[in-house]
Amino acid sequence: MILGISGSGRPDGITSQSVKFLLEATGENYHYISLSDKKINGCIGCLHCAEDATCKQKDDWNEIGEKMLKADAIVFGAPNYYNNLNALAHACLERTFCFRHRETFKLAGNLGIAIGVDDSKEDPLITELITKYMKSNHMAIVDEIQLKGYSQCYTCGYGENCAAGNVVKDHGFIEKIQEWHLPQDFSEQNKGIYELHKAGKILGSILRNQKNEGS
Ligand SMILES: Cc1cc2nc3c(=O)[nH]c(=O)nc-3n(C[C@H](O)[C@H](O)[C@H](O)COP(=O)(O)O)c2cc1C
Repeated sequence: MILGISGSGRPDGITSQSVKFLLEATGENYHYISLSDKKINGCIGCLHCAEDATCKQKDDWNEIGEKMLKADAIVFGAPNYYNNLNALAHACLERTFCFRHRETFKLAGNLGIAIGVDDSKEDPLITELITKYMKSNHMAIVDEIQLKGYSQCYTCGYGENCAAGNVVKDHGFIEKIQEWHLPQDFSEQNKGIYELHKAGKILGSILRNQKNEGS
């Protein structure tokens, strides 16, 4: 089973659409989770997990952690907030600390794909942050893909007159945001979609090969 996690606070934003698109391309069974409605604390460093590799905090993460352990592969997407992972994604990945104790790494060998959503499509910051967590769990990274984010300034309702925001930065002061002013939506990002498609096919094929070797 492939576990797909969208770390974004928006249930239908670029991150969620990207994760779902890649999962679908694998042709394999998958389970999709959006963190948008989840309450997840960060790790508190209590170390009560050292004995049995089980986090003792109780919130929405415990069920996600169990699914991570059962998954053969994890596809994790997150958006850039303040040049960092958004807090939900960060908290979710931070809690995997409980799986790394006493020379045992419970996610070791699991396949991982990172999807980063960022205004600067060329900057690998977000995918690097996601794979840092994957690598510290000794997961095997299959691919890292970047999609372009959709600036909130185009939908906040005040973009036309806000010199601090992206609408005025991109187009100057305008009377009304028109269709052609809008940033690329997910469906318009041909290169990103191609890369998601390719990564999904490769992931599906690795998992099928593994199944055949095991049978
Ligand atoms: C609190 C906040 C901070 C953000 N900071 C950045 C930033 O520093 N750099 C950037 O490229 N985009 C930034 N963004 C824009 C998001 O990355 C972009 O809207 C992205 O599409 C969000 O992902 P989603 O569409 O999956 O919700 C920020 C958005 C929010 C809400």
